[in-house]
Amino acid sequence: MAEAIRVLVALAEHADPPLVKAALEGEPSLDVIGYASYDDDWQAFLAQPADVVVVACGAGDDATAHMVDRAVKHRPDRPVVVMSQESPNGFLRQAFEAGADDFIALPQSAPEVAFVLQKVIARRKGTVTSGKPPAKVITVLGPKGGTGKTLTATNLAVALAQRGKDVVLVDLDLQFGDIGLAMGLSPERTITDLMKAGPPFDHEKIDRHLLRHSSGVKVLIAPTRPDQAGSLSVDYLRDVYAALRTMSDAVIVDTPPGFTAEVIATIDVSSDICMIGMLDSLSLKNMKLGLETLELMGYETGNVTLILNRSDSSVGILPEDVATIIGRAPEVSVPSDREIPRSVNEGVPIVASKPGSGVAKAFEALADRYSTPVAGATKPEKAPQTGLAAGVRTLIGRRS
Ligand SMILES: Nc1ncnc2c1ncn2[C@@H]1O[C@H](COP(=O)(O)OP(=O)(O)OP(=O)(O)O)[C@@H](O)[C@H]1O
Ligand SMILES: [Mg+2]
Repeated sequence: MAEAIRVLVALAEHADPPLVKAALEGEPSLDVIGYASYDDDWQAFLAQPADVVVVACGAGDDATAHMVDRAVKHRPDRPVVVMSQESPNGFLRQAFEAGADDFIALPQSAPEVAFVLQKVIARRKGTVTSGKPPAKVITVLGPKGGTGKTLTATNLAVALAQRGKDVVLVDLDLQFGDIGLAMGLSPERTITDLMKAGPPFDHEKIDRHLLRHSSGVKVLIAPTRPDQAGSLSVDYLRDVYAALRTMSDAVIVDTPPGFTAEVIATIDVSSDICMIGMLDSLSLKNMKLGLETLELMGYETGNVTLILNRSDSSVGILPEDVATIIGRAPEVSVPSDREIPRSVNEGVPIVASKPGSGVAKAFEALADRYSTPVAGATKPEKAPQTGLAAGVRTLIGRRS
């Protein structure tokens, strides 16, 4: 015989407990493991291992919708069914908007209820892959310091938010992260606080640790002091990414220079990578090494977008040379702009403070790559054979 369905029952204010019990108890295929009312400890209640949550109500109201919302956010993979003893009228839509999977009108026999719950659970299992896909995780890498990673992460996040996307920006530069400054946010809650709160990393807990930027971007900022960086567990980080992917359209991760354990764990879950470099031989060497490292890690480098920052600098290497050095041409070029330090100081990314500027247009083009499918976006161009600055030829020649 199939295992009984484990049911958690949330009783809204005007629910009729005897009626609800009659609909759920005495049926061998249903195992009611707990009841809770609005005032109870919801965290503990929802943390119990159950297959489905039933929210029982009178006619349904805002408080009931809130209970549905909390149950959905706590475990998005677990179905939530509303049981109502009065005609739901407008409440039904409200319940579905809150994330309810189905609705049962009371009174109802327990076998009938068991049938509906089985159907809902089966439907969920069958739609795990056909429903909304998990959010992209776009990691911004630049193996050398100061190349424009934070500039790119913040502007990409805001440009995606401007395109209607629900964006979470994570500052993984745990020692010297400056996303908070660049976005003008005070560090009320940081990634360290979230880690200290510990698992389970449900939507509600994560949401409490995200700061809101005026653009709509939600931000998980880095610890305020470098000595707090050590308390971050890579396992916890993976759990946080898994939850973030189900609660947003895009997760953008800013990183420190280099491949730290946290950066490697992040690359593992990344759907896309932005690799930033500048027109100097050290930066380009590190960019090339970075790409090679990703290849060694088995990462699909077709999903890596190369970004050339300060692309108009006159330093003896031409943007065209980059393709020869790196082995492929950058997909996005960002010019230098004196407004950038100003925008960082003001805490307003340049796509918001100076839309229409060359820099803003570059980041808008980058955001378009992730918000609309671009034909050939993951196919890097072949490197044209151009002349190289002598020093760079020597440098790169050693490795190629
Ligand atoms: N295109 C540009 N034009 C003008 N200034 C720029 C440009 N790109 C970056 N900067 C400035 O260079 C500095 C470094 O940029 P940013 O902080 O984005 O680099 P980073 O790669 O995140 O550095 P780190 O490795 O230290 O985290 C910042 O002060 C920024 O304002
Ligand atoms: Mg940075």
